[in-house]
Amino acid sequence: MQSFELIALHKSLYYNDPSLFLFTPGRVNLIGEHIDYNGGLVLPFAITKGTYLLVSKRNDKIINCYSKNFDNLGIISFNIDSYEKGSNWADFVKGAIYELNKLGYKLPFGLDLTFLGTIPTSSGLSSSASLEVLIFNCFKQIYNIDISDEKIALLSQAIEHDYIGVNCGIMDQFIISCAKDNSVMLLNCANLEHSYSKFELGDYRILIMNSCKKRDLASSKYNERLNECKWALEIVNKYYKVNDLCSLKFTDLIHIKDKFEDDVIFRRALHCVSEMARVKDCYDALQNNDLELVGKLLNQSHESLKNNYEVSCIELDTLVEAALSQPDCLGARMTGAGFGGCAIAIINKDRVNDAIKDIKNKYLEVIGHECEVYVARVAGNTRILNLGEDYEL
Ligand code: GLA
Repeated sequence: MQSFELIALHKSLYYNDPSLFLFTPGRVNLIGEHIDYNGGLVLPFAITKGTYLLVSKRNDKIINCYSKNFDNLGIISFNIDSYEKGSNWADFVKGAIYELNKLGYKLPFGLDLTFLGTIPTSSGLSSSASLEVLIFNCFKQIYNIDISDEKIALLSQAIEHDYIGVNCGIMDQFIISCAKDNSVMLLNCANLEHSYSKFELGDYRILIMNSCKKRDLASSKYNERLNECKWALEIVNKYYKVNDLCSLKFTDLIHIKDKFEDDVIFRRALHCVSEMARVKDCYDALQNNDLELVGKLLNQSHESLKNNYEVSCIELDTLVEAALSQPDCLGARMTGAGFGGCAIAIINKDRVNDAIKDIKNKYLEVIGHECEVYVARVAGNTRILNLGEDYEL
């Protein structure tokens, strides 16, 4: 879709010209999976697929929300000062107002909003975090609210916790809100310290492989894993004083292996401790341009997520195997929460086209429905777009 078409749609819905046009990216996590809520390090980057928003001010206190992705729901309207949760996507808008109200901000007038997401929902590329960060950026611009990108990340996570009911970590919201162009972020989720490193892959590209199997974070086993990790930490804390699983040394974990009556809980801890080490190694390997090592670490991460953390599925394993069977593929793994969604692979740029075809065929043969495969492009954080320019969305 072109941006001029989206603007025409906005005008036809609201008879109101937009005064603001924003884009907020989605994200891919290179490595460091399911450890953000265990005080770990993660290595995500933002991507050029994400969420667009057109905004017009109103003279009353009504917020109108329309999303091209949920066209069947039409325009969802509510009053800024009195609204109820609706069990649909507009809850993210309501959640943002709720969080700002808690901080004492009262929004003075209503808005007409038109959204378009270019990452499919529940595909593991953080469409919800993209939406949350986008909404706060919209309010920041329109209502002149003084609020930093880091604060926006925390408020976006708060929507998930307080309003949507998903106890997610901070990774998605943080990278999406604070991303820098052409960079991967090393984020310490225990204290939010972070640094950026140029994401240069030379002759290699990252493929995003979408299984097109939808997962639902709230109803999936995400919260179950979170509780298993809490349980693991309780056992660990009987022997070692650590604040989180990722602060535990590998040798110390092995030392108390037989104290875990339940092998499942031990394996959850093993994933966290080993994934933490892989993130550090991967960051160093990127600094040294050692992409072969990056690839190996991705493979190990996938094995651990599949066998120890048990968040992969046949669809993701099939994509990873299909990618690894390509010539010049350095490594592959699931990315995001798992149970469906996307996997990534590092592949030589000259092999990309053949690999895409072959992976799609193999996937269709084994799984019986199609997948999507494309090259990831690294993006910065939220951008204000020019309303007079025509963009391909
Ligand atoms: C989801 C959550 C993140 C993180 C990943 C798994 O994307 O929102 O906080 O836990 O899963 O790494």
